[in-house]
Amino acid sequence: MTDFLDIHTTSPADLRKIIDDAQAMKQARADRPKGTPDDDQVLAGHMVALIFEKPSTRTRVSFDVGVRQMGGQTMVLSGTDMQLGHGETIADTARVLSRYVDLIMIRTFEEATLLEMAEYATVPVINGLTNRTHPCQIMADVMTFEEFRGPIKGKKVVWSGDGNNVFASFAHAAKQFEFDLTFTGPEPLDPERSLDGLYTIERNPDKAVEGADLVVTDTWVSMHDPQSARERRHNQLRGYQVNADLMAKAKDDSLFMHCLPAHRDDEATSEIMDGPHSVIFDEAENRLHAQKAIMRWCLGV
Ligand code: CP
Repeated sequence: MTDFLDIHTTSPADLRKIIDDAQAMKQARADRPKGTPDDDQVLAGHMVALIFEKPSTRTRVSFDVGVRQMGGQTMVLSGTDMQLGHGETIADTARVLSRYVDLIMIRTFEEATLLEMAEYATVPVINGLTNRTHPCQIMADVMTFEEFRGPIKGKKVVWSGDGNNVFASFAHAAKQFEFDLTFTGPEPLDPERSLDGLYTIERNPDKAVEGADLVVTDTWVSMHDPQSARERRHNQLRGYQVNADLMAKAKDDSLFMHCLPAHRDDEATSEIMDGPHSVIFDEAENRLHAQKAIMRWCLGV
């Protein structure tokens, strides 16, 4: 049994196995109704706790559906409803939950909460997003790229916008999957220093996307950012919007990704989100398949 805490703490071989398993599991279900069980009920008899201290649509539904397709059961817990939100320690919560469930997925604010949960739980823990990283999202993104364009190794990926937690997992993935990653955004919103060396910076977005195989962006104000920063961030990031002019400077067959939820016509125009380069809904679907493979890897089933 293994935790899935981050992309840089998981070996390239294991990451590759997860992506390949996810593709195989997706193929095995092709055209089947969403509610039908997988032939292989590998989570039969397993209970999975899904803890959310932040809002979620994709992570919540895709984990829940994924567990059910594999024959397991879920309980969705909100941080505020649990004693965790009222003073019980993370360590005690981890030890108690481990007596009831076989796997814990947690979306939380501080990375320290995730790490403490993993330290004290005796069942595997999956990172469903922290303020620092979002590894499940990027596993789905790598899977999606490869589905459309083949191996991501050696390809050019450009992130335009805020150097946030989703970017951080892209940076970790760039090293593990061996692709080139360029960040284009304003200096005050640069990625955290621990990621130095995993990507290059090009402040000019037009130059950054030259030769890009994939252009990615994300919301300009993340869940953990103060809403008071909204106007300042919009002013800083307006020049990094992904629109038709910018995409025209990438490769003709470049893909566009956004992990969603999006603020349409802020970080990316609807023309791009709904246009021929966009694979945003394939990305969202692949959260389901990638996370099913992650859960199997964690449990060794
Ligand atoms: N991309 C993503 O994690 O979506 P949710 O916040 O809806 O889970």
